[in-house]
Amino acid sequence: MSTAKKEYKRITTRSLVEMKNNHEKIAMLTAYDYTMAKIVDQAGIDVILVGDSASNVMAGHETTVPITLNEMIYHASSVIRAVKRSLVVVDLPFGSYQSDPKIALRSAIKIMKESGGHAVKLEGGKEIKQSIKKILNAGIPVMGHLGLTPQSIYKFGTYTVRAKEEQEAIKLKEDALLLEKLGCFAIVLEKVPAKLAKEVAESLTIPIIGIGAGNGVDGQVLVTHDMLGMTHEFNPRFLRRYLDLYTDMTNAFQGYISDVKSKDFPNENEQY
Ligand code: KIV
Repeated sequence: MSTAKKEYKRITTRSLVEMKNNHEKIAMLTAYDYTMAKIVDQAGIDVILVGDSASNVMAGHETTVPITLNEMIYHASSVIRAVKRSLVVVDLPFGSYQSDPKIALRSAIKIMKESGGHAVKLEGGKEIKQSIKKILNAGIPVMGHLGLTPQSIYKFGTYTVRAKEEQEAIKLKEDALLLEKLGCFAIVLEKVPAKLAKEVAESLTIPIIGIGAGNGVDGQVLVTHDMLGMTHEFNPRFLRRYLDLYTDMTNAFQGYISDVKSKDFPNENEQY
């Protein structure tokens, strides 16, 4: 039996299911702009999430609640212009799908038409079943999101680990099964015990992509600005930092300021 990894020219929702079946882990990162998306795509990432974490990372809001549909479309269309290979999933923002399935469908269509994204992601299970059904019936691929769902932060009151109690774990497993039955192509599982996440991944045929959900799932997602160390005040246990860009960028900016003040920049070779 060959163990060679399949090369994908373009990642589709089908590729992700194939990866799960072939025991190849799925790598997903966020991007909100053209320049970052280009680097992430060319590095070979499988999925780019235009997350509503843009609300925190790009706009400086305390939560993901304030970001609007038009702001998400602005970020997603910038990402789409850069991407050649990755599957681009776009978050439906808070308020654009919870109240009514018709509104949910309208929001998803607007994202697909105006940004060129490849799929949408919605937070929640049974409560938003009709919205998910309606979007899927229109031919739009849907990624689910269970566990810690930041759009509901005012209901939870905290960003701590979810589904530690049996009742919540049972509901999470039921919701995951429901999302698969409805036709979602994958589910993000955020901040839940690793044992529970593994159990969910093993009982479903669609990929489970974890963030703070351990290593027993089918793939991992991180917020790019966090893993690059640009957001140094955010330190959850699950976050592995691959760079300390906050320090490197601060040093670069201070070097520039010092060169300008000392009249070292520009030198003779840097002028016309
Ligand atoms: O908005 C986001 O970045 C997300 C990830 C944390 C999964 O939903």
